[in-house]
Amino acid sequence: MARASTNFVCQSCGNTTSKWSGRCEACGEWNTIVEEAPLSSGPSGKTLGNARGRAAKLTDLSHPEAPPPRTACAIGELDRVLGGGLVPGSAILVGGDPGIGKSTLLLQAAAAFAQAGLKVIYASGEEASAQVRMRAQRLGLEQAPVKLAAETNLRDILTTLEEERPTLAIIDSIQTMWADNVGSAPGSVAQVRAAAHELTTFAKSRNTSVIMVGHVTKDGQIAGPRVVEHMVDTVLYFEGERGHQFRILRSVKNRFGPADEIGVFEMTGAGLSEVANPSALFLSERGKPAPGSVVFSGIEGTRPVLVEFQALVAPTPQANPRRTVVGWDGSRLAMILAVLEARCGIPFAGLDVYLNVAGGMKVSEPAADLAVAAALLSAREDVAVPPETVVFGEISLSGALRPVGQTENRLKEAQKLGFSTAILPRGGKAKGSGMELTEMADLASVVGEVFGAG
Ligand code: TYD
Ligand code: MG
Repeated sequence: MARASTNFVCQSCGNTTSKWSGRCEACGEWNTIVEEAPLSSGPSGKTLGNARGRAAKLTDLSHPEAPPPRTACAIGELDRVLGGGLVPGSAILVGGDPGIGKSTLLLQAAAAFAQAGLKVIYASGEEASAQVRMRAQRLGLEQAPVKLAAETNLRDILTTLEEERPTLAIIDSIQTMWADNVGSAPGSVAQVRAAAHELTTFAKSRNTSVIMVGHVTKDGQIAGPRVVEHMVDTVLYFEGERGHQFRILRSVKNRFGPADEIGVFEMTGAGLSEVANPSALFLSERGKPAPGSVVFSGIEGTRPVLVEFQALVAPTPQANPRRTVVGWDGSRLAMILAVLEARCGIPFAGLDVYLNVAGGMKVSEPAADLAVAAALLSAREDVAVPPETVVFGEISLSGALRPVGQTENRLKEAQKLGFSTAILPRGGKAKGSGMELTEMADLASVVGEVFGAG
C-alpha cells in the first residue's frame, strides 16, 4: 500500500511542496517549512467521488432558489465597502494589524446588522463573553440583540451555528480557532486554512454570512490570512496608523462589489464613528500653503478623495541619501526621482527625500505621480504651490504626462472643497468644470512654468 503522502507547508506564505527545504521557494523565508498531513486524504486509490457534481443551467437558477437581497445596516461606510450591504451566505475576511480596531468595528457591525433584522452571533476566541459585554457597554450597544459565544473549538462553534442558524456569524479571530482533526497548533497555516475552509463551506451550505477576523503583522509573521484570501468572497483590510485616529476599511477583493472601495472611520472614546466626508478630514490638518505640500485629487473605489502629499528635501553628507516614504510606494518614488533627473535635469543626489501622505492615508494610484513630483519640486525649489490648487496625472518614463480616469469627478470634488485651480495632463476630459485649468503635456513644462526651474 502506498504510504500516506504528507505535504510540506511554509508557515509564512502557505506554499505547499512535496519535499522539505530550509528556505521557502515562494516567499524566500528561512526555516518556515513544516511537515503537515494533507487536509483530507480520501480512501486510497479513489479518484472519483460517489456523488458526481450535478450541473444546472444558469437560466434555471431563478426563483425560489434566488438568494434574498443584500442587507444594509446603519453603518453606511461598511455597507459601501461591502458593495451595498451584506450578501446572504457570503464569506468575508477582515484583516488588519493587532489593536487597530477590528473587534470594535465588528461588534458595532454585529449590533447594526442585528438592528437591521439579522440574527447575529458573535463568536470570540480572544475575549471572554464578559469582556465582549464590557466593550459593548463602552460602545453603548449593551441592549443590541446579539448573541455572544466565547469559544475556540471549531467543532463547538459549528455545532452552535448549526443549532442557532444565524444569518450572520462573526468569528473573532480565525487565528484562535482550533480544529481538533488537524494536528498543528492554533494559528498555524494548517489550522487557519482548515477553520476558514469549514466556515466558508458552512456559509455557503446554510446561507449564513460569515465574517472572519484575521490578524496580520507588518512583517507577515503570523501565518494565515493570505491563504484564506483565496477561499472567501470578500477580503477587507482595516488599516491606519496607530498614532492617528483615522481608520480605513478597504476592500481588496470583492465578488459582490467593486474592489478598492474604502470606508473611512474615526476611532473615538466611544468606538468607531463614520467619516462621511473624508476629503475634508484629510485636509483638515492643513495649515498655510508651504513648500513641499501639494493636494492630490484621488479616486478611492467609487468616490473622489482629496489628500495632501508632503515632501521634505534636505542636503546630506551621506553617500547614499535617504528615501523615506509613508503612505505611498517607495519604488514609484524612485521612478519619479529618476524621471525628474533624466528628463528635466533636476538632480536629487546628495539630498535626503522624505515623502508623506497626511492623515495616515495610503495612496496607490499612479494618478498621484504628478502630485508627488510637484511636492518634490516644491520642496527642492522652496516654492509653494499656489493655494487652492489640486494636482493629478500619471508620469511616463519619457517624462510625458498621461491623462487619468475620472478627471471630471476629481475636479468636481476639488471644487466642492473650495479649490479653484488644477494642474493636470493635457487631453483629459476636463472641459466645463468651472475650475481654472493648467494643462501640461510633459513634466519638463511643469518644472519650467509652475516652478520656474529646470
Ligand atoms: P480592538 O478592536 O480591540 O483591536 P483589534 O481587535 O484589531 O485587535 O481595538 C483596540 C484599540 O482600540 C485599543 O487600543 C483601544 C481602542 N479603542 C478606542 O479608542 N475606543 C473604543 O471605544 C474602543 C472599544 C477601543
Ligand atoms: Mg480583537
